[in-house]
Amino acid sequence: MILRSILLKLAGNRRFTEFLSRKGMSTGIARRFVAGETAQEAVQEIRRLNDQDISATFDHLGENVLDAAGADQATEACMDLIEIIEKEELRANVSLKLTQLGLDLGDELCLGNMRRILTRAEESGMFIRIDMEGAQYTQRTLKIVHALWRDCKNVGTVIQSYLYRSGQDVEDLMEMGVRVRLCKGAYKEPRRVAFPRKKDVDKSYQNLVTRLLEKGEYPAIATHDPTMIEHTVAEANRLGRDPSSWEFQMLYGIRVGEQLRLRKEGYGMRVYVPYGKQWCPYFMRRIAERPANALFVLKNILRS
Ligand code: FDA
Repeated sequence: MILRSILLKLAGNRRFTEFLSRKGMSTGIARRFVAGETAQEAVQEIRRLNDQDISATFDHLGENVLDAAGADQATEACMDLIEIIEKEELRANVSLKLTQLGLDLGDELCLGNMRRILTRAEESGMFIRIDMEGAQYTQRTLKIVHALWRDCKNVGTVIQSYLYRSGQDVEDLMEMGVRVRLCKGAYKEPRRVAFPRKKDVDKSYQNLVTRLLEKGEYPAIATHDPTMIEHTVAEANRLGRDPSSWEFQMLYGIRVGEQLRLRKEGYGMRVYVPYGKQWCPYFMRRIAERPANALFVLKNILRS
């Protein structure tokens, strides 16, 4: 827990992230979790996954843009991705973050950009997932999802089991019919809003899996945790939930063998494939999840 806090703090330190950004791709460290810096590199990785009968969700990395021009650029990049998925005939959709689309600059700007993306995606019958960021954004993200849902049914979002509020949020989203991806949560949150103990995060995760399998519209169970996976499979069987009506999701580069095993056993599997020049904050969250990853980075930096 202490190491996780330090690593998540480092993720917000500009000098450290600039240093890592300079070293990361050239030494290959970043490629452990990031498909590359260009869309073309990500396409290659997604094609490889599709060849193994695994679907993907593209993530053009970037968060917290500083001005409307940056938000517009990120919006255009998402629309380009939809174009690429169509042209390359990939089995993939798009995940994005609202702070990429200008959430820090105001809800209206962000909503406008989201509407542009969803309208373009709808023309291609494509689904767009809004990732969930730190707890300071949860309420506003859900408010935007509610607003979008009135006109666009090709949008879904993410719920984090570490937040105390998530039980109610899952119920609300299920009531509306919005597709939910369930994850544990990757940010450093105060105990005022989130369970501080892993044991409680896991218990909350299992309860929410059960609720989503009981009632959720095509839930996505996003985890690499063997206990959560076992619980999901057992609950899906108990509830008679058809494997084609929900899916597992995992991150690019994590438990690759397990991704293949679950797919071979007949479960839907979608891999989250991030790419882009701004890979550092995403990469640091992955490092913070597992102390062994920090050692991996340290060894590679020292070797380079
Ligand atoms: P846990 O962290 O307990 O890990 C279980 C096991 O998985 C570990 O023992 C290890 O074997 C393996 N593992 C997990 N993380 C690893 C890593 N970084 N490196 C190597 N092995 C690792 N979060 C968020 O806040 N908002 C979001 O929108 C999303 N979106 C999202 C999409 C998808 C498809 C996934 C899979 C995850 C997210 N997350 C996320 C991240 C999520 O909240 C969480 O931080 C990670 O998935 C790790 O949690 P696990 O459930 O895997 O369990």
